[in-house]
Amino acid sequence: MSETVRILALSGSLRRGSFNTAALRACCELAPQQVRIEIAPLRDIPLYDEDLRERTGFPAPVDRLREQIRAAAGLLIATPEYNHSFSGVLKNAIDWISRPPNQPFADKPAAVFSVSPGITGGIRAQWALKPVLSGLGALVLPRPEVAIGDARTKFDDAGVLADEATRERLSTFLRAFVNWIERLRAGGAHQKAQAP
Ligand code: FNR
Repeated sequence: MSETVRILALSGSLRRGSFNTAALRACCELAPQQVRIEIAPLRDIPLYDEDLRERTGFPAPVDRLREQIRAAAGLLIATPEYNHSFSGVLKNAIDWISRPPNQPFADKPAAVFSVSPGITGGIRAQWALKPVLSGLGALVLPRPEVAIGDARTKFDDAGVLADEATRERLSTFLRAFVNWIERLRAGGAHQKAQAP
């Protein structure tokens, strides 16, 4: 890996004390050398309204997010589980981002993990989210699956991921994601080299 790999991260929770956002902050620290993870806020994304898009185009925060995803080597999403699925905040953002032209999920390497105070770690949110991303053409890291359960015992009061085993799992996950990005890039370059 010679150049910096830039990954854009989204948290499906707007909550100030969000475990998912806290886990993404940990990812920023745990990223392998030459990997930079930037967390993009979803707070300013309005509710999806097709009339708004037809009248005035993409709102500025949506436009910016679409550009950021386009420019990133990979997209990392941490999602809470709300009623056995991923959050409406995330779905709303995906709906905006996915509209034509040139929706930026196509062929984008992506990785998803979840965090929940419950014991299942929000795995059902991941299982709901991954097919949505795949349906948009994102290339979703198939494994390892990381669902961080029992979150209240793993983060300290300042929102720092204190549990060593969980930090190790996230490090492994990030290394797998970077390998996935590199493999897909190499595959793409190979296909281009073979094109007539
Ligand atoms: C939840 N929560 C939750 N947890 C879970 O494991 N399975 C679930 O189906 C649900 N459902 C659910 C619905 C709604 C509307 C809310 C607000 C919450 C609890 C949820 O995991 C918890 O609030 C997390 O702390 C949310 O993630 P953040 O905000 O900490 O990142």
